[in-house]
Amino acid sequence: MKQRFESLEILKTAEEKEQCEVPRISADQNTGKKRKLYLETYGCQMNFSDSEIVSSIMFDNGFDTTSDPYSADVIFLNTCSIRENAEQKVRNKLAQFAHIKRNKPSMMVGILGCMAERLKAKLLEEEKLVDMVVGPDAYRDLPSLISEVDEGEKAVNVFLSREETYADINPVRLGGNGISAYISIMRGCDNMCSFCVVPYTRGRERSRDVASILNEAKTLFEQGYREVTLLGQNVDSYKWSSEDGTETVNFAQLLERVALINPLLRVRFTTSHPKDMTDEVLHTMARYHNICKYIHLPAQSGNNRILELMSRGYTREWYLGRIAAIRRILGDDCGISTDIITGFCSETEEEHAQTVALMKEVKYHYAYMFEYSERPNTPAAKKYADDVPSEVKNRRLEEIIALQNSHSLELNNLMIGKVYEVLIDGTSKKSEEDFKGRTSNNTTVIFPRENRKIGDYVQLRITGCTQGSLFGVPVSE
Ligand code: SAH
Ligand code: SF4
Ligand code: F3S
Repeated sequence: MKQRFESLEILKTAEEKEQCEVPRISADQNTGKKRKLYLETYGCQMNFSDSEIVSSIMFDNGFDTTSDPYSADVIFLNTCSIRENAEQKVRNKLAQFAHIKRNKPSMMVGILGCMAERLKAKLLEEEKLVDMVVGPDAYRDLPSLISEVDEGEKAVNVFLSREETYADINPVRLGGNGISAYISIMRGCDNMCSFCVVPYTRGRERSRDVASILNEAKTLFEQGYREVTLLGQNVDSYKWSSEDGTETVNFAQLLERVALINPLLRVRFTTSHPKDMTDEVLHTMARYHNICKYIHLPAQSGNNRILELMSRGYTREWYLGRIAAIRRILGDDCGISTDIITGFCSETEEEHAQTVALMKEVKYHYAYMFEYSERPNTPAAKKYADDVPSEVKNRRLEEIIALQNSHSLELNNLMIGKVYEVLIDGTSKKSEEDFKGRTSNNTTVIFPRENRKIGDYVQLRITGCTQGSLFGVPVSE
């Protein structure tokens, strides 16, 4: 059960993880547009959300999406740079597309997203197949970049903006179930954690205007959506001010305003940063039933020297204080997950043992775990040697994965016998007779379908579990 997909994920079941380990592919859209776009998305939910913006811009410029690369006029890969293997996956994919291009030279290939931003025009030299390199803040320029390629040029736009939030663009929903949608509330990151490439690929942090977020959430609700996930690399530093400076909105206030749209609209968010997560956010969560009781709070390490080298801005004690605040304000049922990196520069066995001890102390519902992967030009790459041998990184990773698996199972077992409200979000992969949905604390439950429909809420008594999901039966109201 090694975690391989890239970050920010709140998906939990074995089924969902599988979907994430492979890139997400655009669906078939047949509205009679002249040309076809095949779009593959790697990386985090923010990238996925960006692909919805890209699809919208492309749709307005004469493109339907397709799930078949062979019938595409344009292939876009929206890429991730977070770890080396994320980039390797894209390079392997490009190699696979080479033969399509050989048979159809008019087909255009574009690299979008974080890898485009990191490597810029160098990508054109390294990957001969590529016609277009477009960074995450340059998607409005796609139509003119496509025209350049149509005229036989190669096209690059990797300009990073301080303002762009695509606030006015109405995303084409690629998610598929019609129930859950992502809403980007901010872009970029100002934190500069030493291991992380995101500040370089996504630029400076900026918050999207509150009215456009609320409008998007309202429209989604009216269209039948029942769950929105507010996305940002550090949602706790969301801050929007009106132009005249008379009104400011922080994350807790934004959360409240989204929750007030309708009690039947569930609100989730990711990612919280331990150094910035306030009690005000936790109290707001406690006040509204429809704000889901689930927090992704990446620890990265349980050792203070390593946290300092990572420039995370908190200590182990501070982090545990935040966990205590979650438990105090939201209770033990609040789901908590984390991200952990093993084998960061100079990490000793004792320091790794402190991460293990932290995991035992917190007992996460879920964890996303990674071996440290040095990223060129990050502060860690410049200042520290990547000196933990890969076998050691891997052994430490295996150790925490096994520990986390036992914790997930243990916490799922504690839910047996209790009743939880679940939002139905799809059919179980294993049986058409069963539906699946999630509890507020983000655990997937499988249960008999009977005459319910996707998008309904149902009260379920939990009857059994595996490490990845629960099984339940409806209780009569
Ligand atoms: N903004 C979020 C996470 C963004 S990246 C946060 O601050 O938590 C998602 C996760 O990828 C990180 O939490 C970290 O655990 C992991 N990650 C980032 N850079 C990495 C690297 N160079 N090697 C291994 N894992 C990394
Ligand atoms: Fe990267 Fe740190 Fe920003 Fe998260 S908060 S995106 S880990 S720099
Ligand atoms: Fe996301 Fe990967 Fe970029 S995690 S922000 S797509 S580097």
